[in-house]
Amino acid sequence: MGNISPDDWRQAARKALPRFVFDYLDGGSEDERGLANNRTQLNALELIPRVLRDNTQVSPATTLLGHEWAFPAAVGPTGLNGLLRPGGDLSLAKAAAGNGIPFILSTASNVRLEAIRQALPQANLWLQLYVMEDRGIAEQLLRRASAARFDALVLTVDVPVSGRREKDVRHGFSVPFKPSVGLAWGALTHPAWSLRQLLRGTPKFANLQEDPDVPMSAQAQAALLARSMDRSLQWRDLAWLRQRWQGPILLKGLLHPDDARRAKAEGMDGVIVSNHGGRQLDAAPAPVRQLPAIRSAVGPSFPLLVDGGVRRGTDIARCLSQGADAVLLGRAPLYALAAEGEPGVNQVLGDLHQELIRTMTLMGARSVQEIEPA
Ligand code: FNR
Repeated sequence: MGNISPDDWRQAARKALPRFVFDYLDGGSEDERGLANNRTQLNALELIPRVLRDNTQVSPATTLLGHEWAFPAAVGPTGLNGLLRPGGDLSLAKAAAGNGIPFILSTASNVRLEAIRQALPQANLWLQLYVMEDRGIAEQLLRRASAARFDALVLTVDVPVSGRREKDVRHGFSVPFKPSVGLAWGALTHPAWSLRQLLRGTPKFANLQEDPDVPMSAQAQAALLARSMDRSLQWRDLAWLRQRWQGPILLKGLLHPDDARRAKAEGMDGVIVSNHGGRQLDAAPAPVRQLPAIRSAVGPSFPLLVDGGVRRGTDIARCLSQGADAVLLGRAPLYALAAEGEPGVNQVLGDLHQELIRTMTLMGARSVQEIEPA
């Protein structure tokens, strides 16, 4: 029997990946309180069904930022997808497009954004931006993403420094890889994973350099990404960004209603309420808990997205019931990518879509607007 539940996929990823890779994907920062709390708070939210409403026509389709979405979810930005599967970014993008939802490419991705656009000329593709001390990197990314007709930009603002992920520290896992007995053991005991990595080469941060033919050393890339976020970044820098990006801009990683109100006042096109999947400030609240206050701060029509712990159709409905317009999916598609590649991601996204339709039908909600607060 194949994988059915979200936990089946997580267990399949655990089997497919060396321990240090699984822990990088699965883990959170410090005591992983925030990581666990994201699920706890979602589980605590109940959906009260309404009955006898004629549920013959139920559709979770929505229009957001000028695009049709088959259901209100996007595949969120995650770095180092190539470590889970070579070409992972492209597999995720294809599965997202095939299921009618956007894909967000991370700054720390391993496939060049031009290649993703070329493979998917019509897809709804967004770029996630980290602004590093060398602002030239952000500027070249923005130029290239504009040229490749990326549809929106996501500026992630919750990583002035990296959260301390103690599992990674214990494994000695860092980029570039420093060989160790533990890492070698993980590779030896997962030959299928190792063979794929050997055949396709260890993943590079393919989007940090403008010209793919001028190789940057792995060390230089890692130094760029790991240590040199621009910590001086502040609200007034959004003008710098706006000058270089014509399309919609969303801020990702807000949790305070005042910050969301400010983002709107500064002309941002939406916000993504997020604690980075419990990987940054461990004591941060679960994003879903902040939604009602943030929705009332920004008003009814400002695009509000949320992520953290979304694993099922019921979770999407829970987030919508609290005021979100859509969710981002982080680990859910990644477990499937690690376990079975693109077909796995397709299955998980299709299952989420069907689960949401079933959930809405059981709730008596025929459209996303009818998903009521409990
Ligand atoms: C992330 N996340 C992330 N966010 C971002 O803006 N840029 C990035 O490069 C990454 N990289 C990344 C790697 C991995 C392995 C994970 C698990 C997460 C955070 C991500 O976009 C999202 O906010 C969370 O993953 C949402 O929580 P769930 O769905 O994973 O519980």
